[in-house]
Parts: sequence; C-alpha cells; structure tokens
Amino acid sequence: MIKNMPDLKKAQRRTKNDVNIIKDSFFIPPMMQNIGQGKYYHIVTYGCQANERDTETINGILEMMGYQSCTDAAEASVILLNTCAIRDNAEQKVFGKIGAIKHLKQSKPELIFGVCGCMAQEEDTVNEILKKYHHIDLVFGTHNINDLPTLLQEAMQTKETIVDVLSQEGEVFENLPTRRDNKIKAWVNIMYGCDKFCTYCIVPYTRGKERSRLAVDIIDEVKSLKAAGYQEITLLGQNVNAYGKDLNSEDNFASLLEAVALLEIPRIRFMTSHPWDFSAEMIAVIAKYDNIMPFIHLPVQSGNNDILKIMNRQYTVEEYKELFDKIKAAKSNVSISTDIIVGFPNETKEQFADTLALVEYCQFDNAFTFVYSARKGTPAAKMVDNVSLKEKQDRLQILNKSVNKYMHLQNERFENKIVEVLVDGPSKKDENILSGYTAHNKLVNFKGDKTLIGKIVKVKIVEVKTWSLQGEVI
Ligand code: 5AD
Ligand code: SF4
Repeated sequence: MIKNMPDLKKAQRRTKNDVNIIKDSFFIPPMMQNIGQGKYYHIVTYGCQANERDTETINGILEMMGYQSCTDAAEASVILLNTCAIRDNAEQKVFGKIGAIKHLKQSKPELIFGVCGCMAQEEDTVNEILKKYHHIDLVFGTHNINDLPTLLQEAMQTKETIVDVLSQEGEVFENLPTRRDNKIKAWVNIMYGCDKFCTYCIVPYTRGKERSRLAVDIIDEVKSLKAAGYQEITLLGQNVNAYGKDLNSEDNFASLLEAVALLEIPRIRFMTSHPWDFSAEMIAVIAKYDNIMPFIHLPVQSGNNDILKIMNRQYTVEEYKELFDKIKAAKSNVSISTDIIVGFPNETKEQFADTLALVEYCQFDNAFTFVYSARKGTPAAKMVDNVSLKEKQDRLQILNKSVNKYMHLQNERFENKIVEVLVDGPSKKDENILSGYTAHNKLVNFKGDKTLIGKIVKVKIVEVKTWSLQGEVI
C-alpha cells in the first residue's frame, strides 16, 4: 500500500513559512499498546550521528510498545534498517543487508522488516524495493518516525509493502520517547535539515529544511541529561551554525552554546559546523568556556577555489584559512578536523594538488576523506565527469598518506603529557584495556580498573600512534 512516495522535486522546495513545533503528535493506537510484550526488535543503524540519534527515538517508541532490543536478528519480531544515502558504498551495504535478511522473513513470515532513514527518502531506492525486494514490509522516512506505531499496525494487517515517505520541508517534533544506550555521552539534536545545497550532497533532500528546536527545549534536555549523570553531550545538526536562523528570536548558535556551557556539564561538543556561518561570537564563546571541548570539526571539502565554487560551498580557500587561523589563535591548543572529497567531477591534477597544499597548511588533527559519489537528484550528478574511478582512488590514497602524517604529528603534541580521558569502557580489541577520549577527541588506550568507566581520569601518554594514544593512569 503506497501512502506517500518520496519525491525529490518536492524535497528540494524551501519556503519562508514558519516551522511547526509539534509537541503532542505521538500516540500508540490501542491495538498496538503492549503488542511487543515478550518480543524483540533489532535495528541496524548506518551513517551519521543524526541517524544514531533517530535510532534512539525508534528504540524509545518500540520499547513503549513493550518490545525489547536484541543483538541477534534471528530472535527479532521487528527488524529495521536505519539507512544512509550519503555515498553509493553506504547504499550498497544496505542492499547487501536487505538480501541477507530474506531468509529470516521466509522462515518467520510474521516478522516485520522495515527500511527507514535517508535511503527511504529516495525515489529510485523505493522503486527498486517495490520491484525487487518483496520481503520488505514497511518503508518510512526521516519525517514521520513519530508514526511508527500506526505504520507497524498497518504492516501487520496487510501482506503488501507499506510505503509512507514524506518529502516535505519538515517539522520539529518534541516529546518523542527516547532510549539512550550510552549512559555517559549523549547526542542532543539542536536543529534538523540543511539549506546549504552543496551540489554533491543528498542531505538537503533527505532531511528537509533547516529548522531549530527552541532553546528552552534544548536546555531542558541538557539539564535532565546532567541530572542523570551524563558527562558529555554533543549538540547535533547538519550545520549547527545555522541554529536559530529560522526562529523568531534573538537565539543563535553562539548564545545557545553559551547557555549550555553555563549548565556546567563537564564536556560539550558540537557537530557539524559549516565554515560559511562560523561567527566571531561563536569563536568567542568556544574560547571562553573550558567545558566546550578544544576540538572542532570544520569540513573544507576541497583546497581549490574553482571546485569550492562548483560545490556551492560559499567560501574561498583564503577565507577558510583565515577562519582556521582565528579559531587556532582563540582557543589554545585546539584540534581541528575536516572532511575532504576527492575526484569531484572534472577535478584536475592541479586542483587536487591545491587540496594537498591546504592539508599541508592546516595540518589537521584528523580528516575524513571520500571519493566523490554521484547522488541522483543533486546538481553535481548531472555534470559530465572526466576523472576515472581509478584516478579518484589514487588521489584518495595520496591524500590519506598526507592526512595520516599530520594526524601522527598532531598526536605527538601529547607525548609524555598528562591528559584527561572520559572512559568509555573496555577497548574493542582487548577486554583488559580501557579506552576513552581526551578533550581533543584523541582515542586513548590504557590499563585500568573497570570502576573507572564513566569517569574522567588523568592519564599520562607514553606512546603515540596515528589512530590512538597509549597511556598509563596516574
Ligand atoms: N560524495 C562523497 N562524499 C560526500 N559527502 C557528502 N556528499 C558526498 C558525495 N556525494 C561527504 C562530505 C561531507 C561528509 C559528511 O560526507 O565530505 O562533509
Ligand atoms: Fe551536505 Fe553541504 Fe548540507 Fe553538509 S552543508 S549536509 S555537505 S549540503
């Protein structure tokens, strides 16, 4: 049953209409209350922190209906894939997983298998699902997570695939249930969507218009997280700097950040910041408060002005460097990381060399590097591209070599230094080793007692690697 099909043209539309803040939309139909008693759900989350945060909402909704989470998909009565559409390889992973779940559905026909997240917002993906993947019961998007109980009921009552994907600008939903697994660090949404329309990026189509939560709602959430013992919060948005622009108030990201800092939660982070509206006020607030972590993610994407222009990034390399230098000068010893795309359509060797030169100038603490991937519906996907995939991959390797060199160099700043580590838990590789992150977002492994988990402890760095630091508790 097709309730709403995604429509990229509609998703592209932006109006000046006020954003509705909806506080009382959520309900569980009577038939669905407690339907999950004694049953399990299994969610696989792909992609960015926005999806991780959405999964926490989905967890909360399902648990309100009585379901419990499980790690083994074979035990679940509801399986959901919360998908990412940012690059083709992310999508291929999801299609692989969809295929792998087919046998579960065959052996357990009452299983509800759903696909949600950014891929659900794409017309082509949904058409492919309808054509080829008949074992999917439910497709819903990023704008109607609150309808999940009703959609599940409909999926249980019909053998057809239910598709309900809204391609609207979006609203702000408050008061949705949430279940956070992590009791130490929390994501806090401050705004949704993106209006930047970088020409390569699908996000403005899958996540809708930039829309901010009210400061009072954000502050209330942070206060209750603090009361629950959280040590770190990360303020989330596709571009947090745009916070407040859609509100009829004086609030902006600098004022919000300051208000959050004053709540005295030990660690505050935020992501992602676009260089475009990174204001002087923001820099001043970041510099002023010690609980705003000295780590900033500032995606540059390319070191060439012509490419930046075709990407619609709205800044030049010179402006980026100026901002970079200002942040470094304002907050002592700050770490800066970035995102870089190589092989944008028709990127020349010289233009790529400009990116390498920028990396040399900035000596980033970390850089997430990607081969350009055409996303259907975006302006860049229509550009003829004369750079072969092999050439793009070669450029990525060259870039990564340089990035890794500077990562190691930046890590050396901490050799023999005492740093504060927020302990996450046992390390992934060795049960007897603890791991956690420093204020500068460096991963540290060290021997220590499990009672330290969730605490901020002083650790001396004894060995520096590219991806992590080795330490000893002092
Ligand atoms: N191809 C490759 N990388 C992309 N990103 C966004 N869209 C694409 C694309 N089409 C990268 C950008 C962004 C990060 C989250 O993903 O670098 O900052
Ligand atoms: Fe995509 Fe650009 Fe928006 Fe980031 S700022 S989500 S790269 S369109």
